[in-house]
Amino acid sequence: MLERIIPPGFEPAKLPEPNSRGARLTVRYCVQCHNLANPAMHVAARWPSVVRRMVPRMEGRGNMGKLMTEMMAGVEAPSLEDERIIVAYHRKHGLRPLDERRLPEVKAPGAESFRVACGQCHALPDPRMHSAKEWPAVVARMQKNMEWMNRVVGSKPLPGELQLKIEDINAFLTRHARR
Ligand code: HEC
Ligand code: HEC
Repeated sequence: MLERIIPPGFEPAKLPEPNSRGARLTVRYCVQCHNLANPAMHVAARWPSVVRRMVPRMEGRGNMGKLMTEMMAGVEAPSLEDERIIVAYHRKHGLRPLDERRLPEVKAPGAESFRVACGQCHALPDPRMHSAKEWPAVVARMQKNMEWMNRVVGSKPLPGELQLKIEDINAFLTRHARR
């Protein structure tokens, strides 16, 4: 597929518990149309509906034109049991969401760039997912994801467009990072 759905760079070897049934089924079914998604991309509660949305497409029941249907011939769909294992695996290794009650600072003006930029594709991550040393590299990778997936980026501001301040994002994340 030519669509820019999931950015490149997350390889099967980077999957958690790569030899588990869940990881192996994910590699079998989830790279047939787009790049591999990191299970840490979505919170546990979101994965069942995301995977469910994928299944009819694999069964050739997506709302696609004739051309797409022909392109999709040969795509393999998981059984209900395989789907269950894939969902459980993604839930187990999902994104740890930020808890606003524990971190009310997220609503402060200084956290605006973080709130706007980092909630576009997935839930806002808990800053304790990474150490202060790790965060800048994760944020830099997300900037690439944003460019690739055509979302609002800080590097090339257009007049009148909200400008994201990467320094503010890194400051917020490192201040509340895992110690
Ligand atoms: C038959 C093709 C096909 C297969 C196989 C497929 N996907 Fe997708 N996927 C799509 C399409 C088309 C989109 C973009 C539209 C959308 O988001 O629903 C997409 C989008 C996504 C997204 C980004 C949107 C979001 O909600 O974050 C994720 C994550 C994703 N797929 C995960 C998976 C996983 C996990 C599997 C394996 C269980 C999988 N996909 C298998 C076609 C497929
Ligand atoms: C354009 C969509 C998009 C935006 C916007 C986005 N992300 Fe992500 N995020 C992804 C994708 C795709 C993945 C899975 C692939 C990866 O890890 O690069 C991911 C995964 C993650 C993960 C889990 C993987 C890890 O390394 O821990 C964290 C944490 C994360 N993002 C934080 C952020 C932060 C912080 C921001 C704001 C600077 C942000 N994201 C903005 C798309 C996005």
